[in-house]
Amino acid sequence: MKLEGKVALVTGAGSNLGKVYAFALAREGAAVVIGDLDGDLAREAARVLGETGARAIGLEMDMGNDAHIEAGVEATVAEFGGVDILVNNAGLARGRWNLCSELTNDEWRDILWVNVGAAMACARACRPIMAARGGGVIVNQSSMGAYAVLTSAYGVSKIAISGLTVALAHEFGPDNIRVNGIAPGAMNGRMPPEVFERMLSLQSIKRPGAPEDLEGALLFLATDASSFMTGQTLIVDGGVAARP
Ligand SMILES: NC(=O)c1ccc[n+]([C@@H]2O[C@H](COP(=O)([O-])OP(=O)(O)OC[C@H]3O[C@@H](n4cnc5c(N)ncnc54)[C@H](O)[C@@H]3O)[C@@H](O)[C@H]2O)c1
Repeated sequence: MKLEGKVALVTGAGSNLGKVYAFALAREGAAVVIGDLDGDLAREAARVLGETGARAIGLEMDMGNDAHIEAGVEATVAEFGGVDILVNNAGLARGRWNLCSELTNDEWRDILWVNVGAAMACARACRPIMAARGGGVIVNQSSMGAYAVLTSAYGVSKIAISGLTVALAHEFGPDNIRVNGIAPGAMNGRMPPEVFERMLSLQSIKRPGAPEDLEGALLFLATDASSFMTGQTLIVDGGVAARP
């Protein structure tokens, strides 16, 4: 168990990719806080995790709400004494299939805040706690959409979070906090069938991706296996972004 004694906070972890991340961290021994817009989903995921013997709690934590971000970090410290790993997974998919110019200014503000600004705010809240513990790890969720098939406000926000990863790596490095990212491809088929078929045709690996395909990248970034790596985003997309 590579994360025994560590505490992890994962946002948007009540279901789907974030839930898989939370469970993977717990399997390596971390105590896990599952934050989600939907508090019931978060608490249920934590309950299931608790049945495996892991230490876990679920919290309502809307990344669009500044007070929830602060409260989520405070609750993590209150429950488990600190935070060592932050996974900024929550992201708004709204606008993923729209052209940039089709969205309203308010939709732009929401997408950029939740997908980028809120990740920064959560990282900022965790920084002093990690620094006091001698360091920490932050993993930001980008998307293959940032590197290929970039057509949407969503894709723009995912390029921005990869930029945030570089910026925070430099800012937080002196506190021994490493900041890296993961850019998943199409992981669960929850997209219009014609888009999914197109993604599959662009992949080098000719099968659908599954959330579990991301566990290796997450555990690599969350553990000392990547101890001298910071400011990088790993693309895990079956080969789409690497197409010639
Ligand atoms: N699913 C994919 O194929 C894929 C591919 C590339 C990148 N991503 C990124 O991975 C992350 C997770 O994707 P997903 O498909 O699991 O997401 P999802 O849309 O399935 O949502 C996962 C969870 O996030 C929660 N959530 C939504 N808005 C939130 C908010 N404002 N604050 C807190 N929680 C919130 C939801 O309640 C849900 O339980 C996102 O950042 C997404 O952009 C996903």
